Amino acid sequence: LRDAPRRQSDALASPSLDLTIRMRRNRKSEWARRLVRENVLTSNDLIWPMFVVDGHNTRTPVASMPGVDRLTVDQIVRDAERAARLNIPCIALFPFTEPSLRDEQGSEALNPDNLVCQAVRAIKKEFPDIGVLCDVALDPFTSHGHDGLIEDGRILNDETVAVLVKQALTQAEAGCDVIAPSDMMDGRIGAIREALDDNGFGDVQIMSYAAKYASAFYGPFRDAIGSAKTLTGDKRTYQMDSANSDEALREVELDIAEGADMVMVKPGMPYLDIVRRVKDHFAMPTFVYQVSGEYAMIAGAAANGWIDGERAMMESLVGFKRAGADGILTYFAPKAAEKIKAES
Ligand code: PBG
Repeated sequence: LRDAPRRQSDALASPSLDLTIRMRRNRKSEWARRLVRENVLTSNDLIWPMFVVDGHNTRTPVASMPGVDRLTVDQIVRDAERAARLNIPCIALFPFTEPSLRDEQGSEALNPDNLVCQAVRAIKKEFPDIGVLCDVALDPFTSHGHDGLIEDGRILNDETVAVLVKQALTQAEAGCDVIAPSDMMDGRIGAIREALDDNGFGDVQIMSYAAKYASAFYGPFRDAIGSAKTLTGDKRTYQMDSANSDEALREVELDIAEGADMVMVKPGMPYLDIVRRVKDHFAMPTFVYQVSGEYAMIAGAAANGWIDGERAMMESLVGFKRAGADGILTYFAPKAAEKIKAES
């Protein structure tokens, strides 16, 4: 027997769809949402990038990155302590090099007493159990702001790799745990791996910036390290074209074959599809860099009262986990870790 068709007036009085499945049931309360939650951000997922500058006891704000400072080495050690307290596993270091120390070759990169090496030694002395990652590329040290050596307006690949190998060894000697080449030269992972192994640094890991795109989102970082004004031209002959996806898989495949222990996709939010493809394809420890411009968008909009900064921060970070990332380099690391700690 079938019900007599309901008249429209009845339906309005007691509207009811004949649904067996209702997706909203699992969202009905906070406990139910927690129970079915698929991805969780923890402090273990975070790598905290920091900017080192010369001097003593000083923190200088980076104007285009509200809430981020350049730190003298003593202050880096204080933030390393904060990282340890917040259970953040790893710190990444980037130097602001005095303009007088920059030259065409980026020689300061090979100075065993440069800012990055000083910071590594200082952190490792006080907090040996925190991971320290060092970026390998020449741009913080070159007068032209490029990641490699230039001849007749062209970035030289193999000559640059030879210098990057020395830079990596310099950082490993200072006590760095993870070497992270961000230069996008061909063949640098293999060359660095071989040199590390030959020089007794077999335990030093390599996290390769494997799929790194030529991006407008690096702008505030270049302010922070002081290369924005000096950079001539762009980095499109070595960093990837943002329109490409298959090419990212080839880049990652090569870096894995050359010995990368971990791979990274950069930037983050506009490239979540690449994170997912890389993770699915290679099942490698896969990282993503939420870069300076992404941070600036969220922090800047929040500072203007245009978005809820904390919620946008957490939403963006769990988005990386959902896309398949095992970890995230983010300037939000201390804030996010504090929020996670307060809520646990
Ligand atoms: C240097 C380097 C860059 C970033 C990390 N390492 C800038 C660039 O390639 O120009 C960007 C990080 C950020 O924007 O937060 N090779």
